[in-house]
Amino acid sequence: MNDDSSAYAAFAAFDSLATMVAVVRPNGECEFANAAFETAMRLSRRAVQRSQLFDWFADTARLREAMDGVARNAYSSSRFDALLRRGPRVHEDLLPVHVIVSQTDDPQQLLVELIENAQQTRQDRDERKLDQVQATKELIRNLAHEIKNPLGGIRGAAQLLALELEPTDMGPELQEYTSVIIHEADRLQSLVDRLLAPHRFAQVVGDVNIHEVCERVRSVILAEYPKGLRLVRDYDTSLPDFRGDREQLIQAVLNIVQNAAQALQARIAAGDAQITLRTRVARQVTIGKQRWRLALELHIEDNGPGVPAEIRDRIFFPLVSGRDGGSGLGLTLSQTIVQQHQGMIDCDSEPGRTDFRITLPLP
Ligand SMILES: Nc1ncnc2c1ncn2[C@@H]1O[C@H](COP(=O)(O)OP(=O)(O)O)[C@@H](O)[C@H]1O
Ligand SMILES: [Mg+2]
Repeated sequence: MNDDSSAYAAFAAFDSLATMVAVVRPNGECEFANAAFETAMRLSRRAVQRSQLFDWFADTARLREAMDGVARNAYSSSRFDALLRRGPRVHEDLLPVHVIVSQTDDPQQLLVELIENAQQTRQDRDERKLDQVQATKELIRNLAHEIKNPLGGIRGAAQLLALELEPTDMGPELQEYTSVIIHEADRLQSLVDRLLAPHRFAQVVGDVNIHEVCERVRSVILAEYPKGLRLVRDYDTSLPDFRGDREQLIQAVLNIVQNAAQALQARIAAGDAQITLRTRVARQVTIGKQRWRLALELHIEDNGPGVPAEIRDRIFFPLVSGRDGGSGLGLTLSQTIVQQHQGMIDCDSEPGRTDFRITLPLP
């Protein structure tokens, strides 16, 4: 049997491949896994090396059959699609791959190649989604601009009308109408202002500590919900500072935590509402079209009823709201701010557990 070092020397060339490669014994014991494999599984080489290939597959029947056939020399290689289980992570724990099992010169060693076939499509989908969000945002902004200008005129005219009406008999009665016009114009104005934000504000860039951001949000929320809501911190304090706009990021996180608190009303009343702020390091993440070596993840997790299924795919779009009186702008603003920091927000929700994840690249 090969000892580790000689096996690794023999297969070292596989490390420069972008596809995942493992060399296994016919019983599934892993002898070697290349760098791409380690990275995709988010595991150390030692952990991979001690494992059974079967551990990584959601369904092993097809793999066993293929390895059997190839080992018995029934065929020299076999291909199929499978789902890989990876890393101890909440998100993306199943990775769709195309698997190729082939013979090597040594009958005791099988070569297993894994190609992330859906990785590409998922990335494409993410990119399309970003483009779509971008297009929608532009549309909304143009629309907001178009509304903003005549709105000033409408409000001004109503004010003049009110002044004209005042000295007349019907003045007080009719002024109720003008005040409705003014009031509604003001409401539209503030909506339009919010639609146009935060593009109107330049970013104020400085060193940001994500935990300072979390703590600020935490104190605001605790002041608002002093009873019935537990705000748990689970911080990875080794996370470094990064460059960004602290106030805007506070706003971005606050919007998400506020949504969580609003969704938790029933549990707050019952006294067992919980929101967790969890920070973690992430390695080799792709955000949009860009790949980052290092990033931070901030999870905002609540034990509320979950995002309503009808709007789950659209919550980051403007004006999409699941609650009475909601503007549907909170998450749009959060997403815009985070995207301006080259990051992104995604959401994983089911009744009892909703997890908003903010990913931000680190230097
Ligand atoms: N943690 C959460 N749990 C359940 N639903 C949520 C959560 N966060 C957001 N939502 C849903 O997403 C919708 C959109 O949120 P948002 O963009 O902030 O707009 P608004 O809060 O004004 O409705 C909310 O109305 C709510 O239905
Ligand atoms: Mg909101």
